[in-house]
Amino acid sequence: MTSLANTSLNPAALDFLERIERQFHVDDAQLQIIVDQFLKDFEAGLNKNGQALPMVPTYVTHLPDGTEKGTFLALDLGGTNLRVCQVTLLGNQQVEMKQSKYRVSDALKTGEAVDLFNYMADSVDHFLTTTDVAPGAEDEDLYLGLTFSFPVDQTAINKGKLIHWTKGFMATNAIGHDVMQMLQDALDRRHIHVKCAALINDTVGCLLSHAYFSGGCILGAIFGTGTNGAYVEDFTKVTKLPKGAFEGTLPKSMVINIEWGAFDNARKVIPRTIFDNKLDRESINPRFQAYEKCISGMYLGEIVRNILLYLVDNSILFSGYSSKQLNTHYGFDTELMSNIESDKSDEGRTVREILTEKMGIDDQSIGPNDIAIVRWACKIVAGRAAKLSSCAVAAIIHETHCAEGNEDFLDVGVDGSLIAFYPGFEDGLRESLRTLVGESIEKRTRIGLAKDGSGIGAALGALGALKAERARAGVPMGDGVGLNHHLPKGLAMTEMHPETAAA
Ligand code: GLC
Repeated sequence: MTSLANTSLNPAALDFLERIERQFHVDDAQLQIIVDQFLKDFEAGLNKNGQALPMVPTYVTHLPDGTEKGTFLALDLGGTNLRVCQVTLLGNQQVEMKQSKYRVSDALKTGEAVDLFNYMADSVDHFLTTTDVAPGAEDEDLYLGLTFSFPVDQTAINKGKLIHWTKGFMATNAIGHDVMQMLQDALDRRHIHVKCAALINDTVGCLLSHAYFSGGCILGAIFGTGTNGAYVEDFTKVTKLPKGAFEGTLPKSMVINIEWGAFDNARKVIPRTIFDNKLDRESINPRFQAYEKCISGMYLGEIVRNILLYLVDNSILFSGYSSKQLNTHYGFDTELMSNIESDKSDEGRTVREILTEKMGIDDQSIGPNDIAIVRWACKIVAGRAAKLSSCAVAAIIHETHCAEGNEDFLDVGVDGSLIAFYPGFEDGLRESLRTLVGESIEKRTRIGLAKDGSGIGAALGALGALKAERARAGVPMGDGVGLNHHLPKGLAMTEMHPETAAA
């Protein structure tokens, strides 16, 4: 308990805290067991639907190499905001983008799905009418890639039924429905000439975008509000796809959206604490997204809050006083953990400020030991998350055999607030990765932030769909495919529209 060594906590309190810390410890042998379980679950999920891991075939069969060209629309739902982008792929690993953001209210997340999809269509309409987007050629619709960051049962590049919601969404009458059709219907009702061409998970977008800029990528992974990964699998291993899923020649490979957030829903391999159990029980999806609940930004703050309350109740923290904010479900945001861990000062001035100003704790109840305990709680929760994250990365390195027989770099494209901003998260992930795959492979693993996977990746997905469509029709792809490639050049433009469309 290094971070508590310099406190004046009495031995009984230290012992109490040590017992909590032990619950969050995952040793190397346990990490290896988790990786082995991942590999078994990959295989089961590729063979059959309805297994522990969805292993969704995405119908994306090629990775880009940076030469792709064209202009497409991208719509991104699944993070904090809804985003509409116009992406121009310039074909020399360069892009130009324009985008607008639209707020997705809780009412939309939890209301009727048709309202959510209407809102998405209204946002596209608003973007097209307020942005300098040239209309498509006569009779040609604009091609749109939808980044939809939830588990779907995908049956074509442009078809997929929602399996279930994650990350706090629960709009009714969406599960079991084709989300692309719902969006297309909403656009058609408004006579918006946009064709929903590709349905892309954010991890797939991340993989595609990183490949466009880096020339290759073994894994696209998100460590943000949720967590998940996508990789390129040998098509012969995707045995669950019905025969006839492809016309003509079978592809050599296919991108698989793992939906690894669902890993260990059966609770076999990840050691769990009472704080995880409380979080799960009180969540809107108990017993689902077990791995995600130990790792992602949506949940880490809540685990810390559970620990802090437990310590308050045992009179070890804040002299036994809580606050309204600390008592509120999801009242301690993961971003605060990040800010707390960024404060390296001895006295922890930022930590104190967060506790008093953001969490409403009475300044008088906060002593130096309390500051140390809060820091310690953030550290053990985020440290475990980083460790557990390494297991999925290691499992992909094993599954794809990408490190064997070569000395190449292994490019991993990542995105999400945890990996991008949380202090020490990537270091923690790397440290465990080293124990799992060995130092030389860990050193060759290049973890890089993917550039806007949800926007650029969706455009690349739409381009792939257009290429496949034209190939089927025997129409050659010209240079500068896609539409509106005569756009004015310019820097990315972002606007936030809080209430564009009627909710
Ligand atoms: C959740 C979603 C998944 C997404 C991930 C990251 O796990 O189910 O589709 O990729 O969050 O946003």
